[in-house]
Amino acid sequence: MDFDRIIDRHGTHSQKWDMMEKIYGVPASDGIPMWVADMDFQPPQCISDALQGMVDHGIYGYYGDDRSYLSAIRWWMQERHGWRVEPEWVFTTHGLVNGTGLCVDAFSEPGDGVVLFTPVYHSFARVIKAAGRRVVECPLATENGRYVMDFDAYDDMLDGSEKMLILCSPHNPGGRVWTREELQGVADFARRHDLILVSDEIHHDLVMPDHSHIAMPLVDDRIADRLVMMTATTKTFNIAGAHSGNVIIADEALRARFAARMGALGMSPNSFGLVMAEAAYSTEGAQWVDALTQYLDGNRRLFDAGIATIPGLASMPLEATYLAWVDFAGTGMDAGDFTARVEKDARIAVNHGATFGTGGESFLRFNLATPRARVQEAVSRLQEAFADLQ
Ligand SMILES: Cc1ncc(COP(=O)(O)O)c(C=O)c1O
Repeated sequence: MDFDRIIDRHGTHSQKWDMMEKIYGVPASDGIPMWVADMDFQPPQCISDALQGMVDHGIYGYYGDDRSYLSAIRWWMQERHGWRVEPEWVFTTHGLVNGTGLCVDAFSEPGDGVVLFTPVYHSFARVIKAAGRRVVECPLATENGRYVMDFDAYDDMLDGSEKMLILCSPHNPGGRVWTREELQGVADFARRHDLILVSDEIHHDLVMPDHSHIAMPLVDDRIADRLVMMTATTKTFNIAGAHSGNVIIADEALRARFAARMGALGMSPNSFGLVMAEAAYSTEGAQWVDALTQYLDGNRRLFDAGIATIPGLASMPLEATYLAWVDFAGTGMDAGDFTARVEKDARIAVNHGATFGTGGESFLRFNLATPRARVQEAVSRLQEAFADLQ
């Protein structure tokens, strides 16, 4: 668990490192990639051991008999989230963007509205639009520098053509861990407008030590008949390349609709992803996650303290995820100007706020899941790039 160790990822087909220059013009030689959400840490040894077991055996046939995999999911959800999952509720997809696309297909028709609380993880809108559905944006409000929901306003924004709501819990990019009251508000809103509620909880294990996440099924059992949960090991354990996720549906009728869509696409799992996920959901995996969240907490404190020294910049308090959401509105610059300073002067690749939807325009998102020395270097470069504001 040496999170300080610098591991060279150049030339490893890493999207984050090997596409930084092409996409952002940030030089591969000394640029710092703080965009796409994967970590520069090795996952727990139990995952590499499980993969090594496959390599040692050396035969890579079709996957079958998923009982131990399902038990591992069940154990993790009960142990870490107090949520009881039955094996037959679990569908394994090729990641959760894929899971989102399948939900859009299964639970809405072309032309239907899909509600998002924006700004939110950009792939949701991309998938919704690509499937010929409409994105219905319900912008988050800001209270004490944090995002909150404003259901009274949202009630007036819907016109009855909406079929689905995708919630990001905890929230990417705002870093919120929604409270029980807020989640109850979401459940009531979904019921009031007759929406299928898809709760993407991919970040549910990456919660800062002073916060706790509540799984949506624990909030209100009256929404079970409209609730679809999405979870994965990939973000938690830094195995995103395994492209594996779980769509978990307790309601039998919803399950039948989802199963029909998966069947129509001929989907079946990737053995590598399942073997890695089973190894991850273990006592060793849990100890690693506990150490990781402590380390990430240190990184966010360092980063926030550095950002606080730059006039005009404000980092949202990170309650979960390792994705810092920094508002540049106070600089008075337009997005082109502050982004150029970050990319060209500081040589840091970041996600652009506008891609997350309405409300994100004055923000940039910084990935802090990297050795602390690199976070420190990024802070120093930002301080220099904006030194004239001092
Ligand atoms: C909320 C959310 N959902 C899904 C994903 C990606 O999921 P996958 O890699 O399983 O497609 C991300 C990645 O950052 C995310 O933040």
